Formats: sequence, structure tokens, C-alpha cells
Amino acid sequence: MSVRRLAPDQVQPTSFAFTAANENWADQQIAKYPEGRQASAVIPLLWKAQEQHDGWVPRAAIETIARKLAMAPMRVMEIATFYTMFNLQPVGEHFIQLCGTTPCALRGAEALKKVCEDVIGPQSTVTADGKLSWLEVECLGACCNAPMAQVNFDYYEDLTPENFRALLDDLRHGRPTKPGPQVERSGSEPLGGGETLKDPALYDGTVIGAGDWQARITEQRKAAAEAAAAKAAAEAAAKAEAEAAAAAQKAGPTDVKAAPAPEAATPARPQPSDAQQPSSRAQDTPSAASDAIKDTPAKAAPPKRAAKPKSEE
Ligand code: FES
Repeated sequence: MSVRRLAPDQVQPTSFAFTAANENWADQQIAKYPEGRQASAVIPLLWKAQEQHDGWVPRAAIETIARKLAMAPMRVMEIATFYTMFNLQPVGEHFIQLCGTTPCALRGAEALKKVCEDVIGPQSTVTADGKLSWLEVECLGACCNAPMAQVNFDYYEDLTPENFRALLDDLRHGRPTKPGPQVERSGSEPLGGGETLKDPALYDGTVIGAGDWQARITEQRKAAAEAAAAKAAAEAAAKAEAEAAAAAQKAGPTDVKAAPAPEAATPARPQPSDAQQPSSRAQDTPSAASDAIKDTPAKAAPPKRAAKPKSEE
């Protein structure tokens, strides 16, 4: 981690002012925050000042921003010196931020530092032609393709002393460069190409679930469609039946009279099978019972007892 100090006085401009367009942009950023919270816009304004001032933040810009946001200049200075995204020294047209954190260090970042020192010079110095400057920074989040460097807004990965030296030469002479991995790999895939998930069947769905899942899904959809059709037909039939019944009821009772009564509605009364046998009619009504008693022959009555002779008494 480099020491974060303002550039020496001899390179500091005497004043700084936003351009009209940037002033307008700054006002829009400030307006995003509630009254009394304008200081929240300090980072966007520092970023815009750096962009306007050839990639670094001079002391005059810090003071201008402090006045605009009604902040103490020291508060703005604290922010500018804390975040490494703000350059406090002049930078080259191509500003190289070389990652020196552990994964990149283990993959050869030390050798890349020597290339920078050899081609550009010490950190935070600009080449005489103004084209290049460099700085060692902490992890830039591309460790999987270590070692790497950021040049302005692009990442260059899988660097070696040879391809890095060639890259610096291309940048210096304005030749086109290819950001990203500098070896034959796409994105962050393993060197030499992917080793897993290579089976095409993984991507056409044929290995999902057991058996022929596509046929199974087709069958399930067909069964669901048939069930829905059967349900709709049953509901239509029930509705038609209900409408017919309602229409019949509306037509009046005469129509009901005209209809012959079904025989089954009046079951036949049971008849006695034998005159000698007690009729079941006797059990139905009192009158029928008395008729049955009358019909019973007299012999059924017990014989009268003869009067006893007086002598026996
Ligand atoms: S360690 Fe270098 S990018 Fe993470």
C-alpha cells in the first residue's frame, strides 16, 4: 500500500473550477440529498473533479468541493486520501494499477513490478512522454486470473513479464490492446478450457429426472387436458338438466296432472289368502276388526257349563 499524500506544490494548480457542464452535473448530484445533507455528494464530486483534471485530484479541487458542500476542507481531504480510487498525484495517459495482493503475488506480481520499474520508473511518476504511470494497489477482485493489472478502466489478466512488457509498449504507441485474459481462455474458465459440465445433455434437459421426462410431462399434460374436458362436459350437462327442470316447473301443474301416475306409486293392498285364516284386515281398522269378529263361527265360543244338581251342592 502506497503512502497517500498530496502532490508536491510545484505540480499543484493554483485554482480549480468545474466546467459549466460539470457544475450543472454536480448540482444535480447535490440535489439528490435532503437539505442539510449535501456533504453526501462529496464522493461523486471528487470523482468528477478527478475526471476533469487529467485523472488526479489537486488540492485546489478539494478546497473548491469543500466550499460547494459547506464542509471543512480537512473533511474532504480525509475522504480523498482514504479511497485509493482518488489519485493525488499526476498520472499518465495510461494509468496502470498493478495488483500486489497475495494471489497475484503468488502468481508472479513481483516480476511485473520489476517490469513497471524498468519501463516506467518509480511508482507515481509519469514517463517523460506523459503516456504511462503506475501504482501498486490491493486486490482488484480478479484473483482467479492472477496476476493482473487495471489500465484506466480495463482489466488485463494472466499477465507474464513478457506479455505485460508488450502490453505497455502497445499502450505507449497507441496500438490496440485486448483487455481481459491475455491467454487462451474465456472469462474466468480454467486454463486449457472447461473440465466440467461438458456433457451437451446437461443443457437440453434430457438428463433431468428419471426416465424419459419429456414423455412423462407430455402424458401428464394430456391427462390434465382430458380431465378438464370431462369436467366441463359434466358441468354443461348438469346445467342443461337444471334449465329443463326449471322450464317444466314454469309450465304449470296441468302438465303434471296429465302425466299418468306411475303404478309403482300405489302399491296393491294385501288380500287375505284364506277365509279360515284371520284376515290382516282385522289389524288395519276398528271397523274391519269388528267385521272379522262377526265372521268368526259360533263354535269358536267356549261351551256353556251345565248347572250343577242341587244334591251335589
Ligand atoms: S489478488 Fe490480485 S486481483 Fe485479487
